[in-house]
Amino acid sequence: MTRITLPRPDDWHLHLRDGAMLTGVLPETTRHFARAIVMPNLVPPVVTGAEAAAYRDRILTALPAGAAFEPLMTLYLTETTDPADVAAAAASGLVKAVKLYPAGATTNSHSGVRDFDKVRGVLEKMAEIGLPLCVHGEVVDPAIDIFDREAVFIETVLDPIRRATPGLRVVMEHITTKDGVDYARSQDDTLAATITTHHLILNRNHILVGGIKPHYYCLPVAKREHHRLALRAAATSGETRFFLGTDSAPHVDPLKECACGCAGCFTATNTMQLLAHVFEEEGRLANLSAFASENGPRFYRLPVNTATLTLEKTTTAAHWPAKIETGAGPVTVFDPGFPVFWHAID
Ligand code: NCD
Ligand code: ZN
Repeated sequence: MTRITLPRPDDWHLHLRDGAMLTGVLPETTRHFARAIVMPNLVPPVVTGAEAAAYRDRILTALPAGAAFEPLMTLYLTETTDPADVAAAAASGLVKAVKLYPAGATTNSHSGVRDFDKVRGVLEKMAEIGLPLCVHGEVVDPAIDIFDREAVFIETVLDPIRRATPGLRVVMEHITTKDGVDYARSQDDTLAATITTHHLILNRNHILVGGIKPHYYCLPVAKREHHRLALRAAATSGETRFFLGTDSAPHVDPLKECACGCAGCFTATNTMQLLAHVFEEEGRLANLSAFASENGPRFYRLPVNTATLTLEKTTTAAHWPAKIETGAGPVTVFDPGFPVFWHAID
């Protein structure tokens, strides 16, 4: 097969930022994607329904001319989040999920949750109304090795929260381990998991062997090869619980290429081409539509897009810019380290 047409894909985990960065990176997503779950980890974070409405307006204002793109807004869960505000923002259709960051787990997460008892009321309200909780699944205990943080989180935080809040619908965001895959598969359909493009391509050697590669550093950090293989098997399986969340996370190059570089890979530009490559390698091109276009809307209870995207394989390697020049500065586009012959016909 050298040409496939999918319902237009959606990105179920995306960082768009704000201001000049937002304007610079938004066209990279709207070129191929119809919708995206937009992460709320701005500075300050998007906590209330009113803040989400204002952020949504800024995104719509920044849209390139003619783009048909719908931002799906999220709220950043804090220990003082008001369950009634969350319920109102969901009922109005504005907010599609609430995001849980354990405090200190990743970029701009200091306002996140330390004491899970303090968010019990919000989680119960969300279970009642069916609003998904998107979870950054890493513990922050400095005694836990960074490569074990996801597995420990599942056992000590995620599973207890789900047991304590029956019916709560949860997305394990950007899973990076076989433990995450196995846990997602062992549970009922209140649980789903997103997988990024870069975690299908990178293992930890790619970050560290032959010199440190700051543009391959993201959180959760890429793990051992057997975890990457488990993620590839899950993503390409067609199982409804797994879908695409790129976690495309732009940072300007000076903040990546320095002594204390920020976490995040910028994959908005070339995700669909890379996914076609990966799915073809796995002999599962026919399941790309499930992963990128169908399973996400099914979990979020939204229609599959009627517009389409066509991907075509040619004998010419695909080209994308090495960097996107934004008003905030240059952002390096994820380099898979191998040639890709799939092109998106936009
Ligand atoms: C994200 C960011 O830069 O906002 N970084 C990352 O490495 N993924 C935060 C996150 O999703 O963890
Ligand atoms: Zn993210």
